Amino acid sequence: MIITDTIKYVGVNDHVIDLFEGQYIVPNGISYNSYAVIDEKIAIMDSVDARFADEWLDNIKNTLGDRKPDYLIVQHMEPDHSSSIVNFVEAYPDAKIVSSAKAFMMMKQFFGNSFTANQVVVGEGDTVSLGSRTLTFVTAPMVHWPEVIVTYDNKDKILFSADGFGKFGALDVEEDWACEARRYYIGIVGKYGAQVQALLKKAAALDISKICPLHGPVLKENLGYYINLYDIWSGYKTETEGVVIAYTSVYGNTKKAAIFLKDKLEAKGVKVAVNDLARVDMAEAVEDAFRYGKIVFATTTYNNDIFPFMKEFINHLTERNFQNKTVGFIENGSWAPVAAKVMKQMLEKSKNLTYAENDVKIMSALDEESLKQLDALAEELCK
Ligand code: FEO
Repeated sequence: MIITDTIKYVGVNDHVIDLFEGQYIVPNGISYNSYAVIDEKIAIMDSVDARFADEWLDNIKNTLGDRKPDYLIVQHMEPDHSSSIVNFVEAYPDAKIVSSAKAFMMMKQFFGNSFTANQVVVGEGDTVSLGSRTLTFVTAPMVHWPEVIVTYDNKDKILFSADGFGKFGALDVEEDWACEARRYYIGIVGKYGAQVQALLKKAAALDISKICPLHGPVLKENLGYYINLYDIWSGYKTETEGVVIAYTSVYGNTKKAAIFLKDKLEAKGVKVAVNDLARVDMAEAVEDAFRYGKIVFATTTYNNDIFPFMKEFINHLTERNFQNKTVGFIENGSWAPVAAKVMKQMLEKSKNLTYAENDVKIMSALDEESLKQLDALAEELCK
């Protein structure tokens, strides 16, 4: 794949992986992107997962022909991008490795070797000249690890954005960008909105024509669309007006309440998403919780606590700095319901949540009283 006349894709697609980062399903696989920047000197941008080291080195060789890389730029040390560094050094022992001081410490931890003879340590604003172009390094701590740098090529006006602007899905599969980029972003970087906002500010000062991330497609046009979505996600803003109902149900009664509320809201013209937390991909449910402006949590009391899938769900939200939402609760219990109280306690540290006045309490099954409460909640969520 040609990015520009002098920048070529040398990454790989992974359709074999079962769970990305040990937890995310990737039905359409994932790509580990790597790029060759070919000038008077040649830089390779990042390596790939070790399972694909040979394919990656073949791609580099086939792309460069008789030439050899002068630099390997390591922007991020998570093993999906770094675990072929050793293979690279064996293949190209004279090449320099350009990375942050923290990344070299991590190389020592991962490989027992920080390649001192090959090291070029860079920090904020440092540069490497390849001849007709200069690569400038910009630190991006916690997007997604502390050692991360991103890189700007001033000739082709390209931002190599590390994990930023990445998405699930291999490059040989056609699919919507936003859906899998959102699931990727919220799941993997969601906690670090402030750090992503800081990086967006730095990027705003650059003249960027293309964004080359470490996962997913190169973004070549309409960059404002992608940058705006990143601003919404990292700013914890509402992307979609509407209500998401996240529920668990043991015998179907809480589900009935969730569906009743959905129908009421839709009849009032509200966009609604419903997630059964025991059955949907948890990362999709988490993504929806951040996407919509309003959320209703519906669950049962269980072991004087809440149902396990709801507990896991709320933990996923709070550890990612869940905030800025209107929140409603539906609780169910047959003798001593505590679910609403427990859920509120779990959300206590979340900033800027506005709680609906109309909670819904179900004692085993829907009745006249709980149906009235659902009506009132639906009414309130429409305002
Ligand atoms: Fe794609 Fe944070 O590694």
